[in-house]
Amino acid sequence: MQKHNFSAGPCVLPKEVLKKASEAIIDFNGLGLSLVEISHRSKDFVEVMETARSLALELLGLEGKGYKALFLQGGASTEFLMVAYNLLEKKAGYLNTGTWADKAIKEAKYFGEVVEVGSSKDENFKYIPNGYVVPEDLDYLHLTSNNTIFGTQIKKFPKVNMPLVCDMSSDIFSRELDFSRFDLIYAGAQKNMGPAGTTLVVVKEEILGKVTRQIPSMLDYKVHIAKDSMFNTPAVFPVYVTMLTLQWLKDLGGISAIEEINNKKAQLIYSEIDLNPVFEGYANKEDRSNMNATFNLTDAQLKEEFDAMCKDAGINGINGHRSVGGYRASMYNALTLESVGVLVDVMSEMERKG
Ligand SMILES: Cc1ncc(COP(=O)(O)O)c(C=O)c1O
Repeated sequence: MQKHNFSAGPCVLPKEVLKKASEAIIDFNGLGLSLVEISHRSKDFVEVMETARSLALELLGLEGKGYKALFLQGGASTEFLMVAYNLLEKKAGYLNTGTWADKAIKEAKYFGEVVEVGSSKDENFKYIPNGYVVPEDLDYLHLTSNNTIFGTQIKKFPKVNMPLVCDMSSDIFSRELDFSRFDLIYAGAQKNMGPAGTTLVVVKEEILGKVTRQIPSMLDYKVHIAKDSMFNTPAVFPVYVTMLTLQWLKDLGGISAIEEINNKKAQLIYSEIDLNPVFEGYANKEDRSNMNATFNLTDAQLKEEFDAMCKDAGINGINGHRSVGGYRASMYNALTLESVGVLVDVMSEMERKG
């Protein structure tokens, strides 16, 4: 039975990417050896790393603009502290838009003063704060572009006069933005790029080297840049799959092409949520995420029936996060419009049944 994978991450990846990746596990590049049993310093793998790094910059439109792309380990959660370790001298600003932003704030506090420039905690992160004031004297401002758990997404980014850092874990490569407005972007691979195990960091080199503290090598962006993202043994398989996914995206027409599809998917599900009285959306309409649609049943007693119908239709992974409940349909780049159609059909069938 065909599955429709709405999982929040790790999540759906393009079928052709998975096929190529599975072949490379047995025999990589016709070497007669598996990708995961050759040296990361071999010509074949160095090429993978270099291609993945340059594809990331190319797709973001950041080539030749002073940025470096790195594939690190420790997940986006390690970036919460690495960002502060490398950039926070005295004071940093954070916009608190959800669980992940909150965790980033907690880590930053180990390194200096943290100002929450805005927060939507008062309404369990249903909205993106606006009209917040950013103090002039921050070392950097940190944002989370897409709040995976609550289903909100920043549509308009503030113009600031200090480095802008953004956790784009759950919407990187999904929509066109002027990425050169950001000085440091990070994202765990396991949503729009590949399997868990590697984190993309894109950093403008000129913002580094300004803090006075000593930074342990593994946590120092400059060390990773100097070693071409090979300071330690990289996560070879996740980096390879990421390279294949970025190549897939490029062949598709890049971010603008996928954004068009993502917009269609989001329109389809949100119009069903809004028109169907059996469901109600969780996030404020103007802040809704194109990646994670969060919604509830208006009558919780229908849960068993809805869940069974979803199961019969091959729908996987739509249970909401435990801190929100209800449902969350994650519609990352590799999820097809057809899969969203299958979910929407089940939702309208619920309404027809009354
Ligand atoms: C927006 C965001 N930031 C950070 C994380 C944490 O990522 P990791 O598990 O790679 O540390 C997640 C995980 O889902 C996320 O969605």
